[in-house]
Amino acid sequence: MEEVSEQITKKTLYSAVQPTNALTIGNYIGAIKSMVDMQHDYNCYFAIANMHAITVRQVPAQLRQKTLALVALYLACGLDPSRCTIYVQSHVPCHAELAWVLNTFTYVGEMERMTQFKDKSAKHADNINMGLMDYPVLMAADILLYKTDVVPVGIDQRQHLEICRDIAQRFNNIYSPTFVLPEGVYPKVGAKIGDLLEPTKKMSKSSENPGGTIFMDDDKDTIIRKFRRAVTDSENEIRYDPEKKPGVSNLLSIYTAFSGKSIEEAEREFAGKGYGDFKLAVGETVAEKLAPVQSEQARLLADKDYLDNILREGAAKAYKVASATLSKVYRKIGFYQI
Ligand code: TRP
Repeated sequence: MEEVSEQITKKTLYSAVQPTNALTIGNYIGAIKSMVDMQHDYNCYFAIANMHAITVRQVPAQLRQKTLALVALYLACGLDPSRCTIYVQSHVPCHAELAWVLNTFTYVGEMERMTQFKDKSAKHADNINMGLMDYPVLMAADILLYKTDVVPVGIDQRQHLEICRDIAQRFNNIYSPTFVLPEGVYPKVGAKIGDLLEPTKKMSKSSENPGGTIFMDDDKDTIIRKFRRAVTDSENEIRYDPEKKPGVSNLLSIYTAFSGKSIEEAEREFAGKGYGDFKLAVGETVAEKLAPVQSEQARLLADKDYLDNILREGAAKAYKVASATLSKVYRKIGFYQI
């Protein structure tokens, strides 16, 4: 009974991550930690976007392995499959099916103008495939299938979210209200985690120099070594000032995110200390926080049956909702149903 009323009153949240490179602590702070909080307040769908991943050529064995590793990481970070729906995109055929329909409500010109399409086309000039161009339409299908109210995404996905709303609105105007228009939420904290070597740039899993990025699966020695080499400045004062001291401020942001302390507390703690000690303390704090997540992830990865079961249940829960939306769409556009 309680569960039913919860589902009625809670808003629906949708988020997906591609199982490509290892995630960074920027993703952890900006996305995963808030996913863990949000699973209590929203009816959440967390998808592993393997269909988006193949718009860039993948090594099959690695794609498979990274898919499972991401599921294990979600669980290790505290996502609870009894509270949220965790599933793999390709396990729910409705995504591809709705994307096909939505394609006929999307203009080629709109897709050609997408910033990410242009960037990725330049980066993968030898493989500008239709999927790469259609990426935003598949993403719109993901979101719309679940009557999503909110989508927390990085600022780089804003254009995709807006086109999703445009497509949904277009469909609703032609037929009758069918799709819920999703709201994009752009988290502030994670977006602020910068690269350790170029702190004014966002820490990214695809950065050219991995020395500036802490990956979720980096071991303690690697983490400490990377923090040791983090850029600071020529002063010797640990003070939060992103304009004048981007390196030190970035380290302070990371430290507060991992220690739960405030910036003021951290500044007081390190007052009078040198950059060397400070960087070591940040590295140790991060390594200490990640260690239990990493060992839990490894433990889960060794239990493939358990993970498969979670994915099977997740796909079944997702399919129920997605297929209902799809069949409504098919009815409206005049697909003969049997
Ligand atoms: N494109 C998103 C990214 O790379 C991943 C994604 C796929 C997504 N489908 C989605 C995010 C639906 C939010 C909602 O970050």
